Amino acid sequence: MEGISVRTFITFGFLLICFFNWATCDYRTEENPYKHFAQVDPEGNYILEWIVNWDTKRVTFNVTVATNGYIGFGLSRRGQMNGSDIVIGGVNRNGRSYFTDCHGTGEIPEIDDSQDWSLLDAWERGSRTFLSFSRPFDTCDDEQDVPITDDLLQVIWTYGETDDEIQYHFQNRGAMPVYLLDPDLVPRSLDPRVPNNGQQPLLDDSTRIFEMTTTRDVPAQDTMYWCSFHKAPTTSKHHIIGFDTLFPTEKDETHVHHLVIYRCHPPPGVNPASLFEPQIASGGGECYFIRDPNPMNTQYCTEDVFLWAVKGRPTFFPEHVGMPLSANGPEYYLLQTHYDNPNLESNLRITFSLQAYYSSVIRPNEAGMITLGTITPGSTSIIVPPGETNHTIMGMCAPGCTDQMFPEEGITVFASLLHTHIRGRGARYHHFRGNTELPWILTDENYDFNYQQYRVLREERKVLPGDLLVNSCTYDTTDTNGTAVIGGFSTRQEMCTAFLWYYTRSNSHAFCRSELKSDGYLNLVGVRTTQWNQERRAMVITSPARYSGISMADYTTNYVDWTVEMREELQRRQIYDPQSSQCPRFTPDDVPTESQLSTEGAREGTGNQQPMSSFPSKVRLYQPSSQCVRRRNQIGGQQQRGKTIREKERSKGRRGWSGI
Ligand SMILES: *[C@@H]1O[C@H](CO)[C@@H](O)[C@H](O)[C@H]1NC(C)=O
Ligand SMILES: *[C@@H]1O[C@H](CO)[C@@H](O)[C@H](O)[C@H]1NC(C)=O
Ligand SMILES: *[C@@H]1O[C@H](CO)[C@@H](O)[C@H](O)[C@H]1NC(C)=O
Ligand SMILES: *[C@@H]1O[C@H](CO)[C@@H](O)[C@H](O)[C@H]1NC(C)=O
Repeated sequence: MEGISVRTFITFGFLLICFFNWATCDYRTEENPYKHFAQVDPEGNYILEWIVNWDTKRVTFNVTVATNGYIGFGLSRRGQMNGSDIVIGGVNRNGRSYFTDCHGTGEIPEIDDSQDWSLLDAWERGSRTFLSFSRPFDTCDDEQDVPITDDLLQVIWTYGETDDEIQYHFQNRGAMPVYLLDPDLVPRSLDPRVPNNGQQPLLDDSTRIFEMTTTRDVPAQDTMYWCSFHKAPTTSKHHIIGFDTLFPTEKDETHVHHLVIYRCHPPPGVNPASLFEPQIASGGGECYFIRDPNPMNTQYCTEDVFLWAVKGRPTFFPEHVGMPLSANGPEYYLLQTHYDNPNLESNLRITFSLQAYYSSVIRPNEAGMITLGTITPGSTSIIVPPGETNHTIMGMCAPGCTDQMFPEEGITVFASLLHTHIRGRGARYHHFRGNTELPWILTDENYDFNYQQYRVLREERKVLPGDLLVNSCTYDTTDTNGTAVIGGFSTRQEMCTAFLWYYTRSNSHAFCRSELKSDGYLNLVGVRTTQWNQERRAMVITSPARYSGISMADYTTNYVDWTVEMREELQRRQIYDPQSSQCPRFTPDDVPTESQLSTEGAREGTGNQQPMSSFPSKVRLYQPSSQCVRRRNQIGGQQQRGKTIREKERSKGRRGWSGI
């Protein structure tokens, strides 16, 4: 193993200052959202920094660990050791560094045939070891390395007490989910990965927090959606610049699965206080379809502002974008909370606080949010037979919708969040213009319900009127114990939804979503018609008569004989059958209800047509170009410094999830 000299005191001195005074070290400056910092273990023994270089398509990692033994660092698709990409390195007692590219098989990592990671620096001081190493995004070693992509990866980490015994006895190890390549706009003082956060809650003098705090007794029912109302803390125009959540205990966090905030727009001439103050006083109520008129007046609160879902990190907008707050005087917001209580616990009292950071400094662009995807519940588009490993569902926003929704110059999308429930394994946001598929707006082949993030796009995307937007989701139902999965509100039912943040905001359309209505789709499984039953909160069969009253969930699990042919035909139709999109125009006076949308179809004169579209079967689908960068003159098992690298363009064909 080649030795690398021990580093000077100066670097260590800098690091030392950082270790005892986090505030002095600017780990992520405003200019570089690609420089990241994370304390990966609870004790602060393992510190990781990384920086993404898009010019060279390499990531450089720095790890500092409280040990004189070896350091293990790895990347894994879903957190397992098998198939993971691991490097093991450190500094020997004689001051020589060692560093080896390995891969996980069983418990003991094996050395790769091709050594694709480069050690840049290694030193040991006192009781700490520092390693700096880098790697191309894609090393071309599909067999033994894990490519660094836009997909969710788990950083797996470990360290030992000695160097000689490179055995994984795994006293100290763990995994941290991360989108390594994403820009990160979370201010360091609020980043939960950086110790000492919470001590500087205000970003600067112009910034305040709008706190939406609720405490609720959650009944012993599987799923509850609750709407509470909140009054904006200011009556003069500000910009919301970010969001964060606060859960006092882990239990509080476990039972909250999503938070959606909507802005309320009372009809002209109606005093908002008269509509919403009584709701604030009463604490709100259970609510599912907010657009349906109801005594809580949720029908006036239809403008999407923000969505938080499981393990969402703090969310911050790029500096040139803000979301209006109290632009026209006093404002009210509706907060819908999804409480999850699968074990039907009683005496469950849940508290949390949603915090909107708002500033008196008005930013150049005004942001809005739209929701896109498959209609759920209230449609039968999502049916996933039991035992599927990779079943795809599509949600569409037809050209006929984007045509009505977006101004001539289009909208600029700057962030997105992809959402499914627990059976989701992959999600992707497609964008078609004419006969071309543009690069995916967002993709994640390793989607994890337990880590749902608002993700800032590396490049903002213009979406023009007439474009087709398609979000696709893939599901795995191999561990549902023979149960088919259908669309629904519960975490154990499914959704396929994408949220987009864009500018310039318009509040005339809140969503664009679609469903399968083709003849033959439901007939395939022996059903003719269904109807949403609000009391049972279930889609129920209405014909043929012999199945009438049976829920789709029950029917697809217990009445359908899922032959291979039927599965294939269902999948084909779910991808290629034409879908009907809904993108109604809203005014405070006229918000179409769910039943109007599902039964009336096109409403005369309101612009609420339901344009059709299908997933394009004839256009050339987007293929990401290969990022494969190979090192020259590989020498197995040994690391050498300063090797030149060359990019090798190589079409890699389809890998994994690609194609749809
Ligand atoms: C890694 O550490 C070196 C100093 O040893 C520093 O120059 C470099 O910027 C660090 N890189 C990252 C990604 O933090
Ligand atoms: C690891 O994965 C490979 C292929 O994916 C499989 O053949 C092998 O049995 C797995 N090994 C273990 C220990 O799970
Ligand atoms: C799986 O289904 C069987 C038969 O319906 C049932 O007896 C069993 O309890 C179920 N197991 C789980 C883990 O739900
Ligand atoms: C998953 O299904 C899609 C089609 O829906 C296909 O293109 C892709 O190759 C499949 N992926 C795997 C890993 O089987």
